[in-house]
Amino acid sequence: MKRTGTLLLLSCLWAGCLEAQTAASSYVPAPENLEARQAFSDARFGIFLHWGLYSLFAQGEWYMQNEGIDRHEYAKAMDAFYPHSFNATQWVQAIKASGARYICFTSRHHEGFSMWDTRCSDYNIMHTPWAQDVVKQLADACHEQQIGLHLYYSHIDWTRDDYPMGRTGRNTGKDPARADWPSYYRFMNAQLTELLTRYGRIDGIWFDGMWDHDQDAQTFDWQLAEQYRLIHSLQPACIIGNNHHQTPFEGEDMQMFERDVPGENKAGLSGQSISALPLETCETMNGMWGYKIKDQNYKSTPTLIRLLVRTASKGANLLLNIGPQPNGALPATALSRLREMGEWLNGPAGESIYATVAGPVSMGDTIVSTRSRREGSIYLHLLTDNVPSTLTLPLDEKVKSATALLTGEKLAFRFDRKQRTLTLTLPQAPRGQVDYIVKLN
Ligand code: GLC
Repeated sequence: MKRTGTLLLLSCLWAGCLEAQTAASSYVPAPENLEARQAFSDARFGIFLHWGLYSLFAQGEWYMQNEGIDRHEYAKAMDAFYPHSFNATQWVQAIKASGARYICFTSRHHEGFSMWDTRCSDYNIMHTPWAQDVVKQLADACHEQQIGLHLYYSHIDWTRDDYPMGRTGRNTGKDPARADWPSYYRFMNAQLTELLTRYGRIDGIWFDGMWDHDQDAQTFDWQLAEQYRLIHSLQPACIIGNNHHQTPFEGEDMQMFERDVPGENKAGLSGQSISALPLETCETMNGMWGYKIKDQNYKSTPTLIRLLVRTASKGANLLLNIGPQPNGALPATALSRLREMGEWLNGPAGESIYATVAGPVSMGDTIVSTRSRREGSIYLHLLTDNVPSTLTLPLDEKVKSATALLTGEKLAFRFDRKQRTLTLTLPQAPRGQVDYIVKLN
């Protein structure tokens, strides 16, 4: 009896100990992280900025890889980097006026060039004739104008020998015999430490490139858990996301989708299941991420607004990309898209996007809905040029009023208790309206 008791006690202690160990190794987001996640979700709209040495070649950020350019030849572009039109304050002003509430800036892309005063490598912006720390200037402008700052950080490097090559960066003149993961891992963590200790609050780190080792994924260890712990130990509120096109791993605070709204997989990179974390869809304004001189194929403002509405209706943010020019200016077309999106978002439509969650009605791409997180109002979004005069929708909750959000007009409606449907009578909408929004209370 005594022995059984002792055994029981011992096994309880062991179980408790195991539990404690698991708890210690599993990620528990800090309260300020949870708060940051909520603020991030409420923001709903951000602007992605792909700017680096690649911008000088004006062929997109994959130019080095796609053309198989020798890294030393490529690096000569450094000597011509002098973006005399760059003005961080003006970038942030234009972005803020669009209604976007955060930016995500490429601190170091796959080419390996760092856009800040890093002490970990000379291949950085301070060694160009321009010699200014763009991350610092952007961080100051974002903090001053109170918009969020996320930093894109590439996990892969087409220039450094110590990064063990995956399926890209094989024709840029690297020496595979000098691959040295511990050295590269130390380098990345030292750079991340700089980014998270020298520039004040950084709202997010946006990793990219893990797919480079998808062919040896079983054996290649990115040591992410330790890297994520480092980031959270430096800034607990910092939101970590990784564009690995998989369901989020432990330690990540958001889930991203490349070129698709969650649940769709038109671009072929988003078959992963959707998690309960904050969601973000990234998409280009034209076709490329980095500046490409020939790519003038900009999506129209109505198309971009409808994309924003559709992402919000899935409970996701839209991170919309701009590729700044070699001279440091944002392309004129991008600036006009920002202005026009701002006219829409800063008007009455804004309340149907910010601080919303996915809504209860979704009928294809043209009838979607959002719901205000605090008040619970439903916003129906009719994304069609031909708004019908009556509309019947499945709806499982009672409605007290229906209002055309942009005009304030009260709309007649009938709720069928048995069928659980709502029938709305809609006045003739002006043709070409981007989004006919009906607010239901
Ligand atoms: C892809 C591309 C990269 C781009 C990113 C943005 O991963 O490789 O160039 O920065 O998508 O989503």
